[in-house]
Amino acid sequence: MTRTVRINRDRLWASLMELKQIGAYHDQATGLPGVRRLALTDADAEARRRCVDWMLQAGLTVRVDRIGNVYATRPGRDRSLPCVLMGSHIDTVATGGAFDGTLGVLGGIEVMRTLNDAGIQTLRDIEVGFFTEEEGVRFGTDMLGSAVTAGRIPLDHACKLTDADGKTVGDELIRIGFDGDADERRPIPHAYLECHIEQGPILADAGVDIGIVQGVQSISWQRLTVRGEAAHAGTTPIAARHDAGLVAASVVVEARRMCDSGDFGQLRATVGNFDLGAGQTNVVPHQATLTIDLRNPADDHMTAAEQHLACYVDQLAARHGVQVAWERMAKTAVVPFHPAIQDLLAATADDLGLPYVRAMSGAGHDAQEISAICPTAMVFVAGENGGFSHTPREYSNPGACANGTDVLANAVLRLADQP
Ligand code: GLV
Ligand code: MN
Ligand code: MN
Repeated sequence: MTRTVRINRDRLWASLMELKQIGAYHDQATGLPGVRRLALTDADAEARRRCVDWMLQAGLTVRVDRIGNVYATRPGRDRSLPCVLMGSHIDTVATGGAFDGTLGVLGGIEVMRTLNDAGIQTLRDIEVGFFTEEEGVRFGTDMLGSAVTAGRIPLDHACKLTDADGKTVGDELIRIGFDGDADERRPIPHAYLECHIEQGPILADAGVDIGIVQGVQSISWQRLTVRGEAAHAGTTPIAARHDAGLVAASVVVEARRMCDSGDFGQLRATVGNFDLGAGQTNVVPHQATLTIDLRNPADDHMTAAEQHLACYVDQLAARHGVQVAWERMAKTAVVPFHPAIQDLLAATADDLGLPYVRAMSGAGHDAQEISAICPTAMVFVAGENGGFSHTPREYSNPGACANGTDVLANAVLRLADQP
């Protein structure tokens, strides 16, 4: 008969509430306490050290790889077998909450504590880890650490990426003391499981705490730089202007129109970064930079959307006499998760008496990278308040967090006892 464990709900919640103090800030826009823990900053370093302490206290063996990913191992009976890996991230966006990524990491540590308390020894090693710069907010490429581990992004390239101040990933890893020496192309796991908040409304609308994730939609990140000509706001005739700001603003509006049109399936487009350089009231902007985040659950619709936007921008640039330059920041195709691992998660939820729905992920996750090297799937946990995330409004209640972590724990236990 399959063994069943229950994690310690209060202990998990206490860890979540403790970690959110690291990088805590007061969010003016919402009036709420938020978390700002950008990758490889001092706050991230402190949170990393706290997690490593918890891993060591749980009797785990900790290693850090060359891109700063951290793994902690609980040995199984047969050390020669590939491990079962759990993980996620503890970096946040600049306006983050307490759950995005951290639930999967602290939940994974809680699974280890629970197995210790129950005196369970598994056949295979179990590992819990966290990956560097999942958010991509500081260095411009999301899922960076897991993409390096999966071999999609070379280590050298990743280490040379810079933040807005020109600091590199490589130097920042050294500065915070997480430039480890373990091989970033880690031993291939038997399976990878990630528990994560849903960050959307699907589970709450369905009235369930748990989601079994079918896959992750395609993500495209590009930076567009528009170069026009500065000119006097009062004296320059409208027809004589090369207004970089106007072109950039038109792109924002077109991106939204594309979503509303239905011509590109379930496209979601976001311009989250919009900069007019000097930004002077009485000067026609000579330069504008903006980022364009596109998401689509169908690769062909994503391709069509990117092509349409490129044509639109070319025509707009010609009409206004400005130059444009595109920079690719990140691009991932639709990633379906492993059917058998999804089914194992679903069977585990059934056995625990926890209702669930199956859903695609709207957000990007480390799991989509790790799925390139081993069978992978994810458990989602419902959010409250509409499931908003990347804002301090993000909230999942203690019961939902614990239920998701119970699914994680018992699915890991089953996988770790597979011969
Ligand atoms: C990760 O948080 C994403 O941007 O989807
Ligand atoms: Mn996340
Ligand atoms: Mn996130």
